[in-house]
Amino acid sequence: MAAAADRIAHPGLRQKIVSAEAAAAMVQPGWNVGMSGFTGAGYPKAVPLALARRIEATHASGQDFRIGLWTGASTAPELDGALAKVDGIDLRLPYQSDPTVRAKINTGHMQYVDIHLSHVAQFVWFGFLGHLNVAVIEVAGVLPDGRLVCSTSVGNNKTWIDQADHVILEVNSWQNAGLEGMHDIYYGTALPPHRKPILMTEPGQRIGEPYLHCNPDKVIAVVETHAPDRNSKFAEPDANSSAIAAHLIDFLQHEVKLGRLPKDLLPLQSGVGNIANAVLAGLNTGPFDNLTAYTEVLQDGMLEMLKSGKMRHASATALSLSPEAAAYFNEHIAEFKERIVLRPQEISNHPEIIRRLGVIAMNAMIEADIYGNVNSTHLMGSAIMNGIGGSGDFARNAYLSIFMTPSVARNGAISCIVPMASHVDHTEHDVEVIVTEQGLADLRGLAPQQRARRIIDRCAHPDYRPLLSDYLDRARAGAGGQHTPHLLGEALSWHQRFLETGSMQRITASA
Ligand code: COA
Repeated sequence: MAAAADRIAHPGLRQKIVSAEAAAAMVQPGWNVGMSGFTGAGYPKAVPLALARRIEATHASGQDFRIGLWTGASTAPELDGALAKVDGIDLRLPYQSDPTVRAKINTGHMQYVDIHLSHVAQFVWFGFLGHLNVAVIEVAGVLPDGRLVCSTSVGNNKTWIDQADHVILEVNSWQNAGLEGMHDIYYGTALPPHRKPILMTEPGQRIGEPYLHCNPDKVIAVVETHAPDRNSKFAEPDANSSAIAAHLIDFLQHEVKLGRLPKDLLPLQSGVGNIANAVLAGLNTGPFDNLTAYTEVLQDGMLEMLKSGKMRHASATALSLSPEAAAYFNEHIAEFKERIVLRPQEISNHPEIIRRLGVIAMNAMIEADIYGNVNSTHLMGSAIMNGIGGSGDFARNAYLSIFMTPSVARNGAISCIVPMASHVDHTEHDVEVIVTEQGLADLRGLAPQQRARRIIDRCAHPDYRPLLSDYLDRARAGAGGQHTPHLLGEALSWHQRFLETGSMQRITASA
């Protein structure tokens, strides 16, 4: 623990070192708490656990104690999991992927506001989300003048520190001191009508400063920790994700041949999860060199590309590495220092920059319908999986907006291509390419019925293709309008059938 104190060079802040319990005791019931953390990186490790214990004891004494919990994105069992387990969260935003939180939301015990990640900071500045009482932020160090070195994620830290009444710092000596200098905190954002262009034209460009500003008078507690990030493992690419990667690489090669993409492509954005990671693994052995990334999360696959030299620069707001990749990163951090930039999520996901750079956005999805509307968030229309995250920020503004999924889920009981999406996060207008292990549908320039034919022919699983074709044919014959024909009484019947029978398959052509 001495190591964490050594990282606190501001004398006044050193004097505020307290236990996690003492810091948690300062948080009051009903407060909105802005915590650091993004995809299991850079989240506070001790205060949330202490707060969960306090909440549990308060509940045991018959009193209510819940907070509003705001973060960058998903965190970890020590934060989301612990607080959800004791029913300590009243309302959660803007993204989660924790099984306990998910269960509480889906059983109606927690409110969840699923927000585009680029919107969160400005919503707080606009006053749309209410008052922020306290920020709990993990940092890797404190400078003599009180400026802060972020750890493995930046997320909404700048906004939480600026907007909260109070700040609690966790100084984590597990985090590599070599992270100092990797962050680029942009302080040029303003509220409309005073906004200025954000002058970034390259993913690797630094436009801000390496440190967070924080008024030491606002800091009510400093807690020392020494604990790793969540650092979850990724699955090895399987046959489906490898096939998806291969289709995507063929497509990108074709685009280069046609002169619609440069040889070194355009900055890549890669979503969360195993498929995205497998696509990066494919690109790492693929034909493109000198790549860049303008993305939200830097996963193992991207670190490999930086390591192999396939990728020059990567801009993100957080790392999300397996234990092995985190160990490699920590050992070789000096090699990555100039090539990775970690930014606030309002900048990593900023529509203006995504549009200017011409990002190639590649995100996983839950399902798409035959017209190309995409559901990224809800199972069977009602149950939240994780959240929209940054997928909308990128999809809406990208040069190319690509969505990927295996064609079926649950051993074939679910078709991921359906007549009508049971929830829509990305409308057909923001979806240009759909890829499954079956093939790739390039939807650019196609009208709805053409899109439907292409998606069914190229992306649907053979078990479901005739059923989807049959639906489309009958919709064309029976619908009132011929632009986007649907049989409204039947459009969601596949989902209903799954809920009733456990499979979408038991459908007949005349059903
Ligand atoms: N209908 C119902 N359930 C489905 C389904 C469908 N069409 N497709 C998949 N599922 C189920 C799977 O069976 C699995 O359930 P299980 O955990 O009980 O086995 C679950 O959904 C997750 O599927 P999986 O294939 O493991 O997903 P993944 O890890 O590749 O993640 C998303 C896919 C869409 C959930 C994930 O990418 C996500 O949350 N995206 C939204 C946010 C985002 O895109 N962020 C990136 C922006 S930078």
